[in-house]
Amino acid sequence: MEFRVGIVGCGVVGTGTTALLLKNSEVIKEKTGVELIISKVADKDWEKPREFYVPEELRTTDYREVLENSDIVVELVGGKDFAKRLILEAIEKGKHVVTANKHLLAEEGEEIFRRAKEKGVMIGFEASVGGGIPIIKAIREGLVGNRIENIYGILNGTTNYILTKMLEEDMSFELALDMAKKLGYAEADPSLDIDGWDSAHKISLLAFVGFGKFFPFEEVHVEGIRNIDLLDVELGKDLGYTLKLLAIAKRINSEVELRVHPTFIPSDNPLAKVSDVYNAILVEGDFVGKTMFYGRGAGSKPTASAVVSDIVDIATKGQNWLWESKEKLKVNKNFYSRYYLRFDVPDRPGVLAKIAHVLASYNISIASVLQKEKVCKLAGREGQPIVPLVILTHKAYERDMQRAVEDIQKLPVVEGKATLIRVEEEAY
Ligand code: HSE
Repeated sequence: MEFRVGIVGCGVVGTGTTALLLKNSEVIKEKTGVELIISKVADKDWEKPREFYVPEELRTTDYREVLENSDIVVELVGGKDFAKRLILEAIEKGKHVVTANKHLLAEEGEEIFRRAKEKGVMIGFEASVGGGIPIIKAIREGLVGNRIENIYGILNGTTNYILTKMLEEDMSFELALDMAKKLGYAEADPSLDIDGWDSAHKISLLAFVGFGKFFPFEEVHVEGIRNIDLLDVELGKDLGYTLKLLAIAKRINSEVELRVHPTFIPSDNPLAKVSDVYNAILVEGDFVGKTMFYGRGAGSKPTASAVVSDIVDIATKGQNWLWESKEKLKVNKNFYSRYYLRFDVPDRPGVLAKIAHVLASYNISIASVLQKEKVCKLAGREGQPIVPLVILTHKAYERDMQRAVEDIQKLPVVEGKATLIRVEEEAY
């Protein structure tokens, strides 16, 4: 059986997908009986340098040529407006669609999936989460017998690469980001990576696949790594924690927590050992227990591998997989977590007592305290040397914690802004 595959957008992933199809279509045919033929590859600019050669006869600058001549349209342009129009147009024409566009799907996927269902075509989006890791397929098919309870992910290759380089090689944030861009890991707009949005898009999609509901994207709690101070990374390390940008989808009865933020996890935990551009996703189901998936989360070849798995899936099975759960799930923004707090304070009697007093007034219990004599500022507001005071708390509610930190920051002994990092321990 022959399938004509057209690609729109020949950037990092489009080029990789073209190269994969050109190189491995014979192997794919042997394995599946399906012959995948590239109809056309569209891009606005054929002059820019590419990692792989795209034969002249496949190139076009007109996306309509792809639409007209393909059974499956692969959208790899990214961004929202044009990509959405293209996908909807392809669906209207009865074409199946494969996309890596987590930004579009997380924010406007409901409409796209619904339209595809009405038209009886499929949307493959394996490549939108976890690069080469077949996580969508794993949750939908491998874990289909389970009620999915929790999903924890290191879902952004760029930020994981940056955090690893900062921690292990003392590299500056800017240099590490620059390298991630050169390696083709970063989004066209890298603030999507750095500020946590890319991870948030991905965890929304995993929550959709795992829990059977599209949650409004605005309800995801999102914080990135832009303001991370190396001091906290080092203090956390002393306490036995590794800092990761963790994406969490946790179900507790009919409530779901959806959040992305820098998180301390115990350094002996397998997730803490996921470094560089690698991604990992820990999925917990009621029967299977905990399972972990690991692989390259970005880059042209791994992502192409996921794109092609969707193409083959559509060509061999053609089933539509839009699951809408009947459960009434809603997002709980007032989550319950352990916290790492750092306050910069003078090293003198009564300071800790004042801070502890505020925490107690919000019913927040201290688990441990670490204060180094290492001075981080020679003279504070009152002329005394300033040291970092770290407090680890037992579990507390997010809202109480935000209020407590606000009050503590107003104490005259506290210099500047406090640092608050969530700690996740129990899930692994
Ligand atoms: N910018 C993304 C990342 C690429 O760094 O993980 C894959 O979605």
